[in-house]
Amino acid sequence: MTTPSEPATDLGLFDAVVNLCKRRGFVFPSAEIYGGIRSTYDYGPLGALMLRNIREAWWRAMIQERDDVVPLDAAILTNPKVWEASGHLATFTDPLVDCRKCKERWRADQIENTCPNCGSSDLTEARPFNLMFKTFVGPVEEESSVAYLRPETAQGMFVNYLNIETTMRRKPPFGIAQIGRAFRNEITPGNFVFRTREFEMMELEFFVPPTDSGRWQQYWCEERLSWYKRYGIAPEKLRLRPHEAEELSHYSSGTTDVEFLFPWGWGELEGIANRTDFDLRAHQEHSGTSLEHFDQASGERYLPHVVEPAAGATRAMMAFLLAAYDEDEIGGERRAVLRLHPRIAPYQVAVLPLSKKDTLSPLAREVLHRLQRHLMCEYDETQSIGRRYRRQDEIGTPFCVTVDFDSLEDQQVTVRERDSTNQTRMAIDDLVSHLLGRLDI
Ligand code: GAP
Repeated sequence: MTTPSEPATDLGLFDAVVNLCKRRGFVFPSAEIYGGIRSTYDYGPLGALMLRNIREAWWRAMIQERDDVVPLDAAILTNPKVWEASGHLATFTDPLVDCRKCKERWRADQIENTCPNCGSSDLTEARPFNLMFKTFVGPVEEESSVAYLRPETAQGMFVNYLNIETTMRRKPPFGIAQIGRAFRNEITPGNFVFRTREFEMMELEFFVPPTDSGRWQQYWCEERLSWYKRYGIAPEKLRLRPHEAEELSHYSSGTTDVEFLFPWGWGELEGIANRTDFDLRAHQEHSGTSLEHFDQASGERYLPHVVEPAAGATRAMMAFLLAAYDEDEIGGERRAVLRLHPRIAPYQVAVLPLSKKDTLSPLAREVLHRLQRHLMCEYDETQSIGRRYRRQDEIGTPFCVTVDFDSLEDQQVTVRERDSTNQTRMAIDDLVSHLLGRLDI
């Protein structure tokens, strides 16, 4: 596995994970039977399960385990006035250049004055290209019916700030958290699901008194870094990197990224930005609605400042898969194994009757039904038990429960662990509590 001291180009790992994703039903090219649509992906059964687990792990840490954050689920289609106020219509752009020779288009800041496709240096001047997807609401395609697909979920939280402060009886410091799809017309999507035009975000807007924003930004950097470690990424593959001044988004006075060591080098997983009062001030001015908070204790009115940890769920999935992929040898046989955290793995348990004989199926199915009430399970009775273990290892299932002929007599089953391959015999009655106890490693 790659470590920071090794050259950061483990493209064999990248290919192995991309290949596994397709072969085992994690990620498919979208509409593949029609030739796909560039850099757009569908999440197959295992990908859908894993993405859901990532969302839940984030939700647990950011909402469920706290008392100062509330959730929101805002619309994707947004009134253009929101993007005018937020500055996205004017400044959410990338510099675009065209190669005059091969007609490819590139982000000017990602190339060195020559076209990566044909090597020509006959490039156009860079011009700003807005990344927002535009559409029309209603039957008439005219300027007054323009709407945008959100390029970030954040604005939904700013424009609902007042609704939430009032209905939930909150005062700063408190946060609004949201998970959902976002859309950006990226010029150069790529590296599998690392950069796509449709992706999923997990964002928190944390509203604080203006003088407290530095302290809270530090706090959220540490919290977010430890979340990735909690769910299984090794500390040496993670780092915090403060942005240089010229990298900052138009709304940020300071941003620190959580970065992961991808096979091609360090890359952003999440940005923790100090958005100051930029957004609330802009929406206050454009809407004419006061968004100030009145602090009863001090008698002061102020616009809260915002610290924003903004993560990509689909990008996090890729990092979790890359960090978990391993190959080892069991009994002289090579195996590929995803050492995923049990809460992130698509299935937590596989129930495997030792043989397909009718005598074992009723008990195996009874065990399955007991476990299914608590855990995501797979049932598999085809092929040899060794091949079935290998298959579960490769998709990251942390526990296999094997029902054998002795189980019919003693009401016990064998629990096999993915990482160590150790096997333990235990009573069926103890299975649920044992496995639930093993989820948080
Ligand atoms: N509201 C702040 C914001 O949107 P961002 O850094 O542009 O910040 C946050 O995006 C996160 O969303 C990134 O750290 C990354 O994980 C993910 N992300 C951004 N653009 C993406 C893309 N085109 N494809 C996949 N994930 C993306």
